[in-house]
Parts: sequence; C-alpha cells; structure tokens
Amino acid sequence: MCLKLSCIFVGELILWGILNFKTMQNTNTQKPMSWLAFQVMSLMMTIRKRFRNIGEEINLAGIKKGLYVLDFGCGLGFNTIPAAKAVGKEGRVFALDISEQAISITTKKIRKHKLDNVELIQSDCDTGLKDRSIDLVYLHNTLPIVKEKQKVLDEITRVLKTGGRLSYMSRVGSRIYGQDIISDSKLKDMLSADFTLVTEKQGHLVFEKVS
Ligand SMILES: C[S@@+](CC[C@H](N)C(=O)[O-])C[C@H]1O[C@@H](n2cnc3c(N)ncnc32)[C@H](O)[C@@H]1O
Repeated sequence: MCLKLSCIFVGELILWGILNFKTMQNTNTQKPMSWLAFQVMSLMMTIRKRFRNIGEEINLAGIKKGLYVLDFGCGLGFNTIPAAKAVGKEGRVFALDISEQAISITTKKIRKHKLDNVELIQSDCDTGLKDRSIDLVYLHNTLPIVKEKQKVLDEITRVLKTGGRLSYMSRVGSRIYGQDIISDSKLKDMLSADFTLVTEKQGHLVFEKVS
C-alpha cells in the first residue's frame, strides 16, 4: 500500500513537472491548465479519490438541507454532487472552476444525477455572487494551485454570511500540483480576523466567519 502510494506520488510529480514547466514560468496572471495537464490531473484525482472519504469531507463543516454552498475549484465535481444532494431542493450549490474542462465534466455529472440546484461558474476568482449570500464554502485541494491566493480568500470572505463556514483542505492533488504550498498557520494569517477555527481533523480545517 505504502509503496503503491509512493509510486503514484513520484509519478505524479514527474508528470506534473513536465506538463506544467511552461505554466510555472508565467507571470502573475493565472491561466487554466492545458488540455493535457487537465487530463493528467483528472486521472490522478480519479485514482486518489479511492483513498478519500468524500462523505466525511463534505459533512465535517455541517452541511444540511437548504444551505447555499460555493464549491471553489470544483474540479471533477467530487464534492459538488454530494453537496447538491445534501442541500436538497431548498438549497443551492455554486460550482466554480477556472477550467472549461472542469465545468464541462461537472455539468455532465449534474445532468446524469438529475440535479437542478447547481449553478456552474467559470472564473479564476470573481464569483459574481452577492455579499454575504453563502452559508458554506468548500476550498478543497485548490488553494496551493491558485496564483492570487489573497484575492480568492477575500472573495470568499465577501460572499460568506456571518456564521457561515469555510471548509479547507489541501491533502489531495494541490499539495503536489501547487506551486506554492501554504502551511495551515499561513492560511490562518491570510484569513481576516473575522474567522475562527472551529474544527480540525487531519489537515481538514473548518473556519467560521464570526463577523
Ligand atoms: C486538484 S483539483 C481539486 C478539485 C476538487 N476541489 C476536489 O477536491 O476534488 C483543483 C481544481 O482547482 C481549479 N483551479 C485552480 N486555480 C483556480 C482558480 N484560480 N480559480 C478557480 N479554480 C481554480 C483547477 O482547474 C482544478 O479543477
């Protein structure tokens, strides 16, 4: 098991380095991954999904019926679909990703699961959502890949209601693919004083917006 995981990890690192060499040399503007890089990431994410407990991931922040949720960096929709089922018809999930491919894959999954409470947003930061309109944000395995991290955290802060929650983790994928790994303590510094940590479980952090 350990050897298998190590092989996957090393393989991913090499592939990712080759595929993203050009992107890493870019300036501040973030471009979506190339088609090929996205295919590789999708494959890796699909393999790694077997080691994830998605149910626990979406439940730790206290998801329930009627909530308005933002899945920032929805990727292949691994969190989007169960979140949409959990919030039900009274709730809504906004699934945002910079990548057209991610949006297209998630759209297909939404149709397959016959969900009508999900809205897709293609963006690298701006959600277009109203101030204080969201109860729960998932920022899972995405922040290290994001170039404008503070801008994204500010946007999340803007859209979250007082008492709303931010569910953050970077266990899968982004720790490897991310160009800037950020420590949990740095994340706490980057979030404004409006946030307090309410739950922490094996690198999965849940913050509550207190003001
Ligand atoms: C490793 S995947 C994680 C997907 C999903 N959150 C999960 O945990 O399964 C990271 C996703 O973040 C997206 N992403 C990277 N930078 C982004 C940005 N600035 N804005 C929106 N999405 C971004 C990528 O396109 C990719 O789909």
